[in-house]
Amino acid sequence: MKKTAPALALLILCASLPVVHAEESGGTLYKMNCAPCHGVSGDANTPAGKKFNATVFNTAEGLQKSDEELLMVTRTGKGQMPSWSDVLTDTELKSVIAYIRTFQKKQ
Ligand code: HEC
Repeated sequence: MKKTAPALALLILCASLPVVHAEESGGTLYKMNCAPCHGVSGDANTPAGKKFNATVFNTAEGLQKSDEELLMVTRTGKGQMPSWSDVLTDTELKSVIAYIRTFQKKQ
């Protein structure tokens, strides 16, 4: 019985964790997949961001397009940016796009 105790404790811990809000998971997904090029704060000031000339998100000019258009671009990829449709679902991409929008609001 002793051996199952830690696993059981972990199970109880996981079950009691609150459901992650869309914006938070968008942020996590962004940091994992997008920040290497677009920067943690959306400034694209990373080695890869500079190399590929990634779009800057934290300026008013950065994202003029609608959410729907940005979803299309991230799904299919653009220029040096790979396609994300095999990696992230539409729902995940939408929450990432909502997260990207928060960079603009901070300006
Ligand atoms: C390998 C580097 C790289 C990664 C990783 C990356 N991007 Fe990009 N992204 C780019 C580049 C480069 C552009 C500019 C493309 C162009 O205009 O030719 C871009 C442009 C964009 C644009 C602007 C498109 C437009 O038409 O205005 C959005 C939105 C975007 N990326 C979202 C994302 C999201 C969301 C992720 C993570 C799921 C991500 N990117 C990951 C390189 C990257």
